Amino acid sequence: MFDLKKIVRPNILTLEPYRCARDDFKEGILLDANENTHGPALNQLSETETLLELNRYPDPHQLDLKQQIVDFRNAKPNVNLKNPEKDGLYPGNLCLGVGSDESIDMLLRCVCVPGKDKMLICPPTYGMYSICATVNDVAIATVPLKFPGFQIDIEGILAKVQEDPSIKLLYLTSPGNPTGQLLRVKDIIELLEKSSPVWNGLVVVDEAYIDFTQAEDERYSESMSTLCNQYPNLVVLQTLSKSFGLAGIRLGITYCNEELSGYLNAMKYPYNISSLTANIAKRATGDKTGLQVMSDSVSKIIKQREYLLRELTALPHVGRNIGGLDSNFILLEILDNQGVPSNEVAFTVYNKLAVDNNVVVRFRGKELNCTGALRISVGTEQENKTLVEKFKQVLQSVNGTK
Ligand SMILES: Cc1ncc(COP(=O)(O)O)c(C=O)c1O
Repeated sequence: MFDLKKIVRPNILTLEPYRCARDDFKEGILLDANENTHGPALNQLSETETLLELNRYPDPHQLDLKQQIVDFRNAKPNVNLKNPEKDGLYPGNLCLGVGSDESIDMLLRCVCVPGKDKMLICPPTYGMYSICATVNDVAIATVPLKFPGFQIDIEGILAKVQEDPSIKLLYLTSPGNPTGQLLRVKDIIELLEKSSPVWNGLVVVDEAYIDFTQAEDERYSESMSTLCNQYPNLVVLQTLSKSFGLAGIRLGITYCNEELSGYLNAMKYPYNISSLTANIAKRATGDKTGLQVMSDSVSKIIKQREYLLRELTALPHVGRNIGGLDSNFILLEILDNQGVPSNEVAFTVYNKLAVDNNVVVRFRGKELNCTGALRISVGTEQENKTLVEKFKQVLQSVNGTK
């Protein structure tokens, strides 16, 4: 059976987290942390900035923020959560990072011994997993997503992790990037249950785009974050960069059982979440109006996604959306004159859109099973109209299809 202690690196198992005097004493004349008690080097501070006491180190634990995040996720549990009263999320399940990019890196450093252990990914997938692995000298194994459909190959993954016990982590992305496809929750649960007796590794589900997915039954969420206390080998990553529109503040969230979150919190830099980031994250996730703004903007994006898909796929030389519709982007095939997906044409379109028309999309044609693909984020109504216009012009000039 899965045993966390056997995969956490020995140096992390015994790590004593950094402690400061402020862990024990928070009030009074605070002369314990070599801060500048004369205040920030800023001329004029707004009322909010003054209240943030920016000359002080931020709170290392962020319990208020974590409580708000778990309240938000617990309000719509995953339908597969068997015992919501007992197994719902609590702040001890969370570790906050500087964007989920830090969370990705931290997990790798927690369980993979450099030069020895491996990580498994299912391409096409988010590029930072391999970059973090390479930086940490962790080798990468792959089991591609099934094509078409971009769902996981359960049997392929199970065979791979059993044949190579040096694999310690599996990164799944749901909804995927660049696929925009939600992975079937029942498949991931099958993997969690079947892998646990035969493989001592963590299944990480990166849910950066989860809020753009709508569960059929509105009382539940497709997010697997609420299942972390039910499956000790499950880790879920989320971010405020997408649905919350806060990529600039850099806040990522790792959900996992409390034992693992204890190791992750011990590893992290004590003050990784700045006071400014925490303040904005609290406003966005706690107050009803923040959550309402998030859900309104998700609805607008979903509507605009339909518009983009309809308008763009009606153009000559634009093929199918090869991904799913569970995210804030689409993945369109660009075709040559024979109607075949073409990297050459796609790259020319990408380049002309950017250089001549000031519209930047992403060329993804080199990703596995994405030949000829452009990944296009859904913009505002006006941006999307402009994009469609420019797209038409560029396609005409590229292919002489007037
Ligand atoms: C699948 C996925 N995970 C994580 C991230 C990074 O998120 P963050 O901004 O929180 O670092 C991205 C960003 O595009 C992403 O696509």
